[in-house]
Amino acid sequence: MSTTIRARSGKVTVPDILSRKFSLAADVQQTSRSQESHRSEEGSTNKITCLTAYDYPTARLLDEAGVDILLVGDSLGMVVLGYESTLPVTLEEMLHHTRAVRRAARRALLVADMPYGSYHAAIPEALHNAMRFVKEAGAEAVKVEGGERRLELIARFVEAEIPVMGHIGLTPQSLNSFGGYKVQGKTPDAAERLLRDARSVEAAGAFAIVLEAIPRELAARITQSLRIPTIGIGAGPDCDGQVLVLHDMIGLSFGERPKFARRYATVGEEIARAAREFCADVRGGRFPSDAESYHAPAETPAHTVTPLPT
Ligand code: KIV
Repeated sequence: MSTTIRARSGKVTVPDILSRKFSLAADVQQTSRSQESHRSEEGSTNKITCLTAYDYPTARLLDEAGVDILLVGDSLGMVVLGYESTLPVTLEEMLHHTRAVRRAARRALLVADMPYGSYHAAIPEALHNAMRFVKEAGAEAVKVEGGERRLELIARFVEAEIPVMGHIGLTPQSLNSFGGYKVQGKTPDAAERLLRDARSVEAAGAFAIVLEAIPRELAARITQSLRIPTIGIGAGPDCDGQVLVLHDMIGLSFGERPKFARRYATVGEEIARAAREFCADVRGGRFPSDAESYHAPAETPAHTVTPLPT
C-alpha cells in the first residue's frame, strides 16, 4: 500500500474500546492490592462512556463533550419518532439518522443499532443490511440484541469486517416475548442463561456488550468473566462502561422514567419555556423589535411605505 492511513489523533476506535478492558482490569487489580478506591489520582477512571445520538446537533455536542461511543439506538423510534416501542423502526429510518450522526462525529466511535427485522431472517440478508450501515451511513460498528442464538450471526458479521456490539438482558426488541419491560436475570437459572449468552457473544467475536436491566451482582459477575468490555444500562456501577438514552438523561422524554436514568438536565422544560415566551412576545407585539428587522436604504421607494387602503 502506498498510502499510510493514520487515525485522527484522539479518535476512539474499536481496538481502543477493547483495550479499555485491560486498563480497567489493571485498575481493579491495583485497587484490591492497595485497598484504595478505583480512581486514579485525578479522581477518574478509564470507564467507557456511551450515549445515544440521533441527529447532527446533539451528536456534535456529545462528540465535543468527549463521549466515547455515540450509539444511534433504535430507541430513536420511541424518543424521537414517537412510536410506542422500538419494533416499528425501519432500516431506512435508522440509516437516515446514522448518516446525520456521522456528519457530526469526529472523535467518538459510531455504533448503529440494527432494527427489529433487519437481522432476524436469513444471515445473507442480515449481512447485507449490516453492510449498508457501514458503507452508506458511515457506522463503525453495529449492535444486535440477543445472546447464544446470535452466535453465528455475530461471527459472520465479524468475518465480514463489521465490528459488533452485543446486547443482552432486557432487550427491547423482545418486548412481546418478555411480556413487558422487566428486569431480567433475577432467578438463578435466568442468571446462568445470561452468563452463557454473554460468553457466546464474546466467543462469536463481539468487541463489547451492553447489559440492560439486570441485577448489579449479575452484571459484576459477567463483567469479571468476560475479556470484552461490558457497558451497562440499569446494570449497576461495576460494568466497564455506562450507556444512557440521551433524551432520558437531559429531560426531553415523556412518560415513566426508569430509576437508572439519572436526569442531568431539564432541556424539555427549557424548550417549553422558550416556546411560551416566543408566543407571548409575538402576540404582545414585542417580537420582532425594530433592531431585529432589516431596513431599506434611505432614498429608495421601498423606504416610503404606502399605507394600505382602508
Ligand atoms: O436503542 C438504544 O437506545 C439502546 C440502548 C438503550 C443501549 O439499545
